[in-house]
Amino acid sequence: VIYNHMQGNLSGTLGQPSEHHVATFGISDTDAEPFIKKLQTGETVDASAYIDAIVENIGTTNVIAQTKGGDPKNCVMLGGHSDSVAEGPGINDDGSGSLTLLEIATHLTKYTVNNCVRFAWWAGEEEGLLGSDYYVSQLSEEENMKIRLFMDYDMLASPNYAYQVYNATNAVNPAGSEELRDLYTGFYKAHGQNHTYIPFDGRSDYDAFIRNGIPGGGIATGAEGVKTEKEAAMFGGRAGEWFDHCYHQLCDTVNNLNLEAWELNAKLVAHSVATYAVSFKGFPE
Ligand code: PHE
Ligand code: ZN
Ligand code: ZN
Ligand code: ZN
Repeated sequence: VIYNHMQGNLSGTLGQPSEHHVATFGISDTDAEPFIKKLQTGETVDASAYIDAIVENIGTTNVIAQTKGGDPKNCVMLGGHSDSVAEGPGINDDGSGSLTLLEIATHLTKYTVNNCVRFAWWAGEEEGLLGSDYYVSQLSEEENMKIRLFMDYDMLASPNYAYQVYNATNAVNPAGSEELRDLYTGFYKAHGQNHTYIPFDGRSDYDAFIRNGIPGGGIATGAEGVKTEKEAAMFGGRAGEWFDHCYHQLCDTVNNLNLEAWELNAKLVAHSVATYAVSFKGFPE
């Protein structure tokens, strides 16, 4: 958020945050004032000095957990984000995903696995995918190769939901997994449900994975997109309204969940884990 703001208003090299830090505005306008005055008079401003003056860096932490069993060289990884926007509690976005992962991790302890299963609860997603970006960036080539697949679970219970599947047929993102996409669409069909496709638009934590050659995908139930008449016919709900009318707002509380969608999607997540914990048959080596 802040880096976009800065790029819009300042010259100088800002780039992306390379450290695993969440950047927030300082409270004090007086810190920014001298810099803004300079900008208004057309003077050049040292961008990094401006950042130092008004930004407070806060360290954040991804939580990563991996099965003790299973081939540690062949892992299926899945993630949701544990942060919310500052504006609200983030129960659908992404309490729905992170809690689903927690529940499945707990149940998984009762089973043995062939492939290792690695869970991630990402930090700083809402500040620009900071946690997942950092995580992928610090993997050695060897560690990168161990992650055979990444599955993104962000917003699973939108109140005016659609069953959305990231579509791997997207030349910009060759690592979008067609096998995973087909697992999802097959699951929805087997449960008598429709689905739609959404593009990999870089707005969730799969992004760093597919940009770094790790096959990935995921599902979602919709954010600030508007449901069409056709989608209302496919999924029920209200055409002309956001999938999640409390998206990034104070009202994203426990009352902002469609429990039917959450239950089916929790089963889908469990199915995806169960499938790839057993075998990567049919996957690219
Ligand atoms: N990742 C977005 C968020 O956390 C939500 C989103 C996901 C929007 C996928 C569009 C597509 O706010
Ligand atoms: Zn969000
Ligand atoms: Zn989210
Ligand atoms: Zn509404």
